[in-house]
Amino acid sequence: MKQTLANLQTQALSELNAACDAKALEELRVKYLGKKGEITAVLRQMGGLPADERPVIGALANTVREEIEAALAVRSAAIEAAALTERLLREKLDVTIPGTPVSVGHRHPMSIVLDEAKDIFVGMGFSIAEGPEIEFATYNFDKLNTLPGHPARDMTDTFYITDDVLLRTQTSPVQVRVMESQKPPIRIISPGRVYRKDEVDATHSPMFHQIEGLVVDKGITMGDLKGTLNALVHKLYGAETNTRFRPHHFPFTEPSCEVDVQCFVCGGSGCRVCKGEGWIELLGAGMVHPKVLAGVGIDPEEYSGFAFGIGLERMTMLRFGIDDMRLLYENDMRFLGQF
Ligand code: PHE
Repeated sequence: MKQTLANLQTQALSELNAACDAKALEELRVKYLGKKGEITAVLRQMGGLPADERPVIGALANTVREEIEAALAVRSAAIEAAALTERLLREKLDVTIPGTPVSVGHRHPMSIVLDEAKDIFVGMGFSIAEGPEIEFATYNFDKLNTLPGHPARDMTDTFYITDDVLLRTQTSPVQVRVMESQKPPIRIISPGRVYRKDEVDATHSPMFHQIEGLVVDKGITMGDLKGTLNALVHKLYGAETNTRFRPHHFPFTEPSCEVDVQCFVCGGSGCRVCKGEGWIELLGAGMVHPKVLAGVGIDPEEYSGFAFGIGLERMTMLRFGIDDMRLLYENDMRFLGQF
């Protein structure tokens, strides 16, 4: 029996070495170590042995089993390693092949300019306020000292929803909402959409964007207004850009002005873009009217403030030299891809 076991071991080891895949190994495991395998068969015959030989044969059988198990593990590891090497060789990956290009989107030119403007104002200590696009006539007009009968209230300019509710024609009602809800010192900007009954052309659209600005504190002067708006223009268009403050009229500011920027195309000598003027209008502004302050419960004897409303489309067109506002709304990728 010793001889049988020794033969079994030699035979098993040589067969194992010849096995070349996991399936062959498993078959050999069953053949030698399985319940109906060769070693079990030898152990079954132990009943016929003299009692003193049984432990010797038993121990030998265990050794043989362990040897075969060990050899199986070694062979199995070797086969796995070989399989892996073979796969690595077969599945060569060329990491230098250029990938399929994915087109990445980017911000709309107006968003770029709005973000720049926000950064500039936040840098000057402003925070950002929001107001509704569907607004009460009282906020859009009355509280801004634009009383019934004022031409701006005319049905021909304003989209009315009811007699009292409308699509805001300007972001200025946010001034009132902010002053009603917080006490001075106030320093906010409020960007958003506004609506007017305008025909679409190169410089008009029934929906456009404004950035409202409002500063209220003790001792605020027109000098603060000029300094703030000049800082904005210089940061946006370059330190050498000239501005012009022209007297104007708004019902809710006194005094009022419009601010022009020297034409970016001709530098002021007059061309098609500035319509021969040399200047391009950018915004309306002024000192907050005492009646507006009093209307929201801020004492105009104690506080003063300035406000402004910038056309974001204008600002963007100036910034990038775009001469037709419609391009900003058409979502033509050939246009948008240029920014
Ligand atoms: N709301 C004015 C407009 O739409 C602009 C403006 C804002 C003027 C604030 C003065 C102060 O034309």
